[in-house]
Amino acid sequence: MKKDEIYEALLEPVAVMALERDRAILQKSAALLQERMGFWWTGFYLVEDLLPAWGRLDTGVSPEQVKDEEIPAGKGPWMVLGPSVGPPACERIRFGRGVCGTSWAEKRTVVVPDVDEFPGHIACSSETRSEIVVPVFRDGEVAGVLDIDSREPANFNEVDAEWLERIAALISSALS
Ligand code: SME
Repeated sequence: MKKDEIYEALLEPVAVMALERDRAILQKSAALLQERMGFWWTGFYLVEDLLPAWGRLDTGVSPEQVKDEEIPAGKGPWMVLGPSVGPPACERIRFGRGVCGTSWAEKRTVVVPDVDEFPGHIACSSETRSEIVVPVFRDGEVAGVLDIDSREPANFNEVDAEWLERIAALISSALS
């Protein structure tokens, strides 16, 4: 099956979840992507200050994650780790940092063919070779990002960006 076809087949279940306001849409869509596309890590980072914007959706974020006394004041804003599939990943990402923080700051999809070439890349797994990060918007603001890592070099291109932006738009539509 071609990449396009797999993404196309993925779109319908995500659209149904969005329409039905499935509380587990983040976890389920990450799992679907990971399983069907054979990615290494798939998940969401959610803008901490906009957590209420996710409404009834299950963000998987615990109060302990948000109220972390260890976080130095004045060093935010931050995103926190939401639903994800794959090996353990870093819990917090600062605005403008790494691929995720760049996507957030620049409000755009970021495709990284070689993570070693991306200045400031945050290495959650040494096996990751390429990455794509797609923002999820609410009222024109980035409420979170969809982050996907691959063990294949240059695994992502504009085809992935286009389909993943459609998936991110469906998820946006499920926000209250
Ligand atoms: N590599 C990301 C951090 C998150 S992990 O890949 C799961 C980044 O540079 O933002």
